[in-house]
Amino acid sequence: MAKESKKMKSEGLPSFTIPGMTLEQGAEVAALLQDRLNALTDLHLTLKHVHWNVVGPNFVSVHEMLDPQVDAVREMADTTAERISTLGLSPIGTPGALVADRSWNDYSIGRAGAIEHLGALDLVYVGVIEDYRRDIAATEELDPVTQDMLIGQSSQLEQFHWFVRAHLETSGGALSTAGASSEVEARGQARAGVKRKTA
Ligand SMILES: [Fe+2]
Repeated sequence: MAKESKKMKSEGLPSFTIPGMTLEQGAEVAALLQDRLNALTDLHLTLKHVHWNVVGPNFVSVHEMLDPQVDAVREMADTTAERISTLGLSPIGTPGALVADRSWNDYSIGRAGAIEHLGALDLVYVGVIEDYRRDIAATEELDPVTQDMLIGQSSQLEQFHWFVRAHLETSGGALSTAGASSEVEARGQARAGVKRKTA
């Protein structure tokens, strides 16, 4: 079954698409949205993983902060998948296809302290939000209705990112994870804190 899902791919041109768009434009937007769908599915699963694996001081606040984010991101995934269907193509939502298609690695941290997971989540959100910005620019001319959807989703994701970063920020506005290039590095910097890092 997993091998079959890995073979599942978006199927070229649709036989119909949204009026006013060409079939090629429909296919291009659907391909871009499949990548957003993969990122959103990956994100809400990762957020639940953190919800289950966070330990130590601030457990309750971080554990409870994440569930509304999971719900909102699941809703975004649903809306995105249905936009692909609206464009005349088939959204792919199976785990095997997601893992085969994604250009990023699995979240790398298991049981860990709240501040450590938040440090790693900072990097997760940076990756997702950067790709949203890319796709918002790409849909400017191509499909402003999809662009509007992406802007709305990005606005919410950017706010969730701030919820995460507020835990990593000093009163002076410095971010403990600044310059980190991997989740493990961000985790370490978050654990050490801004003061020790800049001392
Ligand atoms: Fe729960």
